[in-house]
Parts: sequence; C-alpha cells; structure tokens
Amino acid sequence: MIRTIARYGARHVSGSMLAALKAVFRGDGLRGSSIQEFEKQFAAYHGMQHALSASYGRMAFYYTLKALDLPRDSEIIFPALTFWAVPEMARALGFRPKFVDIDPGTFNLDPAKFDVAITPDTRAVVPTHLYGQPCDMDPIMASARAHGLVVVEDCAHALGATYKGRKVGAFGDAAFLRSTSHRSSVITI
Ligand SMILES: Cc1ncc(COP(=O)(O)O)c(C=O)c1O
Repeated sequence: MIRTIARYGARHVSGSMLAALKAVFRGDGLRGSSIQEFEKQFAAYHGMQHALSASYGRMAFYYTLKALDLPRDSEIIFPALTFWAVPEMARALGFRPKFVDIDPGTFNLDPAKFDVAITPDTRAVVPTHLYGQPCDMDPIMASARAHGLVVVEDCAHALGATYKGRKVGAFGDAAFLRSTSHRSSVITI
C-alpha cells in the first residue's frame, strides 16, 4: 500500500522553535556548540558515524559530490522523478546526470531499469526516497556494488523513514536529509 506524506506543511516538534531562537540569540545559530550537539544527536538518531549541517539539501549534495572527487564527465544516475536542483548540482560540477524511469507504484527508482542503465561511465547513483517512501534498497545496492558505484541517498522527503527496519540514509556511502519546515539540511556519512 502506498502511504505517501504531504510535500508541504509545517510540522514542529514541541520546543524546537524556542531552542532554535535561543541558539540564534546566543550567536550560535550557524556555527558553535548547538550545531555540533545537533549534528551529534542527528548522527546517533540515524545510526551514522557523522552528520554535518548544510544550508540546503542541494548544497549538502553539492558538498558530498565535491568530496567524492569523481572523474569529470562521470555519469550519475537519478530517478526521472526528482527535484530538478539535485541533478543540476551534478551538472554544475561537470558530471552527466542520467535519468532512469521510476516504478509508477512507488514513484521511486525502478531497480530493474537502474541495473540495465549502468554503463562503464556510470560512477554513482542517487536513490531518492520520494514522499516518505523508501526505495527498494536491496536490489539497488546489489547492482551498485556489483558495478562499484557510489551510492548517495536523497532522503530529503524521508527523515526517519525505514526500509526493512533500517533508517533510510544508512544504506549507501552518504546521504542527505532535509527538514522541510526549518529548511535545514544534513549530510550523513
Ligand atoms: C527530493 C528532493 N531532494 C532534494 C531537495 C533539495 O532540497 P533544498 O530545497 O533544501 O535544496 C528537494 C527539495 O524540494 C527535494 O524535493
């Protein structure tokens, strides 16, 4: 059964706005101990070793791609249904975005179509967990590992979503997540 979540809408954890405002007034809103504490707790919540805050989801992806240092002109696979700014970051860095069809039942990357789309120039794939629904990560990871691809999960819609009991973002080599209401983003590795 498809159980998608709304793309927009403010959902605040009680007390979070006050904590954020206090951090801003302490001069701790962009850097400093509050951010470090947030990153520590975020990484622990996601079962990851590290989490780093970024201004936007697209910037989190941009920094991740830069850190990966893939060869220029590398092909990077994206689902055909995604947010345009994400493949645009890859193009801006000199990579070639390649779009692979989605499964119309889940709106996510079709694992079988992904597998046959891989070429010798493909270096990475960005499984995108759209509308809170996890991608089918087992076959995606199997294909990616068989071809030595880097996997960067786009979890912008799926903070806290799970696939077979594990939080999304914990499958690939890196992930980026986004809080819609606060417009902040986090990279996890
Ligand atoms: C699937 C998906 N990935 C990434 C992003 C990028 O997030 P941001 O707008 O914070 O750059 C969005 C934004 O809507 C998105 O929908």
